[in-house]
Amino acid sequence: MAQSLFTAVLPMDFSKAPTAHQEVLSWISDVATLCEPKAIHFCDGSETEELELIEMMVRQGTLKKLNPEKRPGSYLAWSDPKDVARVEDRTFVCTENEVDAGPNNNWMSPDAMAETLRPLFRGSMSGRTMYVIPFSMGPIGSPLAKIGIEISDSPYVVVNMRRMTRMGAAVWDQLGLEGEFVKALHTVGAPRRPDPLTGEIPADKSWPCNSEKYIVHYPERNEIWSFGSGYGGNALLGKKCFALRLASMMGKKQGWLAEHMLILGVESPRGEKIYVGAAFPSACGKTNFAMLVPPKAFDGWKVTTVGDDIAWIKPGADGKFYAINPESGFFGVAPGTSLQTNPNAVKTISKNVIFTNVALTDDGDVWWEGLSKTPPEKLTDWQGQEWTPQSGRPAAHPNARFTVAIEQCPSLDEKWNAPEGVPLSALIFGGRRAGLVPLVYEADSWASGIYSGATLASETTAAAAGATGIVRRDPMAMLPFCGYNMGDYFAHWLSFAENTNNKLPKIFGVNWFRKDDDGKFMWPGFGDNMRVLKWIFERVQGRGHGAHNALGTTPTYDDLDWSGLESFPRAAFETLTKIDGPAWIEETKSHREALAKFGDRIPTAMLACNEQLMIRSHQQV
Ligand code: OXD
Ligand code: MN
Repeated sequence: MAQSLFTAVLPMDFSKAPTAHQEVLSWISDVATLCEPKAIHFCDGSETEELELIEMMVRQGTLKKLNPEKRPGSYLAWSDPKDVARVEDRTFVCTENEVDAGPNNNWMSPDAMAETLRPLFRGSMSGRTMYVIPFSMGPIGSPLAKIGIEISDSPYVVVNMRRMTRMGAAVWDQLGLEGEFVKALHTVGAPRRPDPLTGEIPADKSWPCNSEKYIVHYPERNEIWSFGSGYGGNALLGKKCFALRLASMMGKKQGWLAEHMLILGVESPRGEKIYVGAAFPSACGKTNFAMLVPPKAFDGWKVTTVGDDIAWIKPGADGKFYAINPESGFFGVAPGTSLQTNPNAVKTISKNVIFTNVALTDDGDVWWEGLSKTPPEKLTDWQGQEWTPQSGRPAAHPNARFTVAIEQCPSLDEKWNAPEGVPLSALIFGGRRAGLVPLVYEADSWASGIYSGATLASETTAAAAGATGIVRRDPMAMLPFCGYNMGDYFAHWLSFAENTNNKLPKIFGVNWFRKDDDGKFMWPGFGDNMRVLKWIFERVQGRGHGAHNALGTTPTYDDLDWSGLESFPRAAFETLTKIDGPAWIEETKSHREALAKFGDRIPTAMLACNEQLMIRSHQQV
């Protein structure tokens, strides 16, 4: 990249740096001493900077420019085939005491981890530019927002962070001389050392990374060290590492919640509006739900998008639970996204997108499984190989992504950027379960709702490396993201009921993924989820009806609005909402085993809910 005003060439001279924050500068200088980059660039977040970086990445082969007539301002990256998803088994939470990280995290003592990491980071940026990326999670200046600084040797990270966070010069002003910030250090771990004989620096790879990976969090000192991966949540450190793992710990200390939740608004034809937060495990359709387009017959109903992945939630002085989306972009799963499943996403990604690991069409556009019913006859797949529908392998990686600014979303909520956030009236927990869990139910109380979240299970997806389709417990969809002991996390959730001024949102469970005996999905999903959302809306307004059962309250067939889907058979709905007592007795036993893993950190209220559910499941027989 051309050396702009704020590119410091080593040895360091920070006299022209855009900040005089001493802790920031001394951290940058420590990192530079350790990682030995060839230059340091302070990112200003401008368009000029982005264009320069993009041009450089196109030259190096990291990005391909897409056909500007089909996909203006958009680029495609293909990663190393071994660097395609979050690496949960390489993700660590390093607290002083192991029990504080909990059985839900991989742990190493901070000292032992520092000893492991230092040699890996030493010289790790040789031959590369070190980018200093100032960013705000949440609207700059919002009382709910927090600042981070990512230091990374990946220009791909810079252009993705520019979409995913409020990144750039304004953050330095907000930080001032003494503001707090999260230190987020990232290297792809692929130093470009000169050949000892010729002195020449070998050609770079289009996707540099390291076969060894470490994604490390120090929640007690607000630091992240990420080594070896350039992909998604491993590298864009504002997202999972900061906005969930570190923020969950900050929230526990400061009385708020950092959740793996989308935020949406629902507005009735009469103009009544509520906001809802919904937690689903990774790649279970949060982006689709956040951008839901109601069926035609729901004339006048509107769903608006505040966020698709993360919510920071804090009770306000009026007791309502206010939520902000700390991000400002979508890092969405491409496969399965189409005009049928998510027309708003398709419009959002019509321009200015960074695609990663999707397939390339002959005319310079992109394609992925599910985008069209009939695949193109010929493609270049995500590994750069020729592909035809007969190839017998996916053209796009199942965890292929688009990165795009939220402001391009047609269903964007008018308050998406409001510093005070939006008040949540309902929270939803949902998993991918082929059986057992009904389409929707409302929990009887705050505690039983938390219990249903705490015992959530879901089939694993391609968002993380490892086997897919295996049912695992994923409490509140936070298993990979809670930065502290989940026993304490459930207690933190429960503690919000202690303040009688708090207006606790109602809690619902949903399951869009129930299958019939032939293995077919029973519920159409997507836009038809509006029927469920409308029922939730009515429950919040105190109007909706339902039948009481072991889990809480579930709508009967007549309690849902079937306009436009009158043909949906009553019997199918009954199967879809059936609560099978004997199966729930077994499920409740397995809840107990899952909760027992947290030992004495598990709140007694959770065990009481378990006993209650056991009694009710027996009665359900
Ligand atoms: C994501 C994930 O990328 O949950 O949002 O993996
Ligand atoms: Mn996610």
